[in-house]
Amino acid sequence: MQLELQNITKMFGNVVALDGVSFTAAAPEFVCLLGPSGCGKTTLLRLIAGLSQPDSGRLLLGGEDLTRIPARNRGFGIVFQAYSLFPNMTVAANIGYGLKIRGAAPANIKKRVGELLDLIRLSHLADRYPYQLSGGQQQRVALARAVAVDPKLLLLDEPLSALDAKVRTELRGEIRELQKRLGILTIMVTHDQEEALMLADRIVCMQHGRIAQVGTPDELYTRPQNRFVADFMGVSNLLDQALVREWAAHLLGGVTPPDDHVACIRPEDIVIRPDLRGARVREVQFLGNLSRLQIEWGGGMLVVQETGRTTLTPGAEVGIHISAENCTWVSPQ
Ligand SMILES: Nc1ncnc2c1ncn2[C@@H]1O[C@H](COP(=O)(O)OP(=O)(O)OP(=O)(O)O)[C@@H](O)[C@H]1O
Ligand SMILES: [Mg+2]
Repeated sequence: MQLELQNITKMFGNVVALDGVSFTAAAPEFVCLLGPSGCGKTTLLRLIAGLSQPDSGRLLLGGEDLTRIPARNRGFGIVFQAYSLFPNMTVAANIGYGLKIRGAAPANIKKRVGELLDLIRLSHLADRYPYQLSGGQQQRVALARAVAVDPKLLLLDEPLSALDAKVRTELRGEIRELQKRLGILTIMVTHDQEEALMLADRIVCMQHGRIAQVGTPDELYTRPQNRFVADFMGVSNLLDQALVREWAAHLLGGVTPPDDHVACIRPEDIVIRPDLRGARVREVQFLGNLSRLQIEWGGGMLVVQETGRTTLTPGAEVGIHISAENCTWVSPQ
């Protein structure tokens, strides 16, 4: 099952929410639409769902034009950020709802609901009502409800963003497992790059209604095509030409930077040399499994990451080393 978006454009008044978006995805891929607030992620997901129409462009599923098919006839499973369970129905009734309105036999509904309850590990809560569940449990039920009817496509719009960090991490793993097991083409919106890195087979990184880059998590993280993607995919040191020229001579082995490109160096790729001099530690943050340091060097500030707890303290004088292969050149826009 292949989903193809061709040159999708969507305006709201004179706001261009989507500007020529094209990409293809095929089952059993897990695709994340990633980007900052307002870049058009929800608009794109709603268009795929059939909840709104593009101004121009086409959507194809398995070669068939979907553009004018209304949401209810597309047969997609959708989970939104806000808990959207039917408040007057039990967990089991919520999960079985889609099957019931499609006229499935009660015995079949019961069987399928039972399987899904096992899968989301909530069999013991089948008779509860949504208000009796935690946020994480409600989103699990929403997920089970969305996949109960064997949708051709699973669409998720920030389903984890209302949950606390621990539950979010747990549920990420569960979503991935469920998706793998069912093999459904899944498109999930998130503005959390860590979430996208962990879940996605491919990431569609968006900026101002356009696609900035499409690729595997590894490609986006290690080979960003421009400054925006490099910055968005995690903490990076983005050094402009002047600084790079000054530093390149002794740090990067005399590398000549491509025209007007920016050097992108990951904090974990910078080596601190306590035996050398020339740089000064300005700030130290301990983040549990790693330490993040701000180091002043050559008139610029570098973010450097070390695993575990660093022994360095603010004010310490050190040297730094960056090898040429850890420097990626990205276009400035
Ligand atoms: N119904 C609407 N009417 C007018 N403008 C809209 C409408 N829906 C979205 N927009 C605008 O379109 C742009 C894209 O919005 P969208 O909701 O797709 O962003 P998003 O990437 O999902 O952001 P967030 O991460 O904050 O949810 C924004 O500038 C938004 O203000
Ligand atoms: Mg949104």
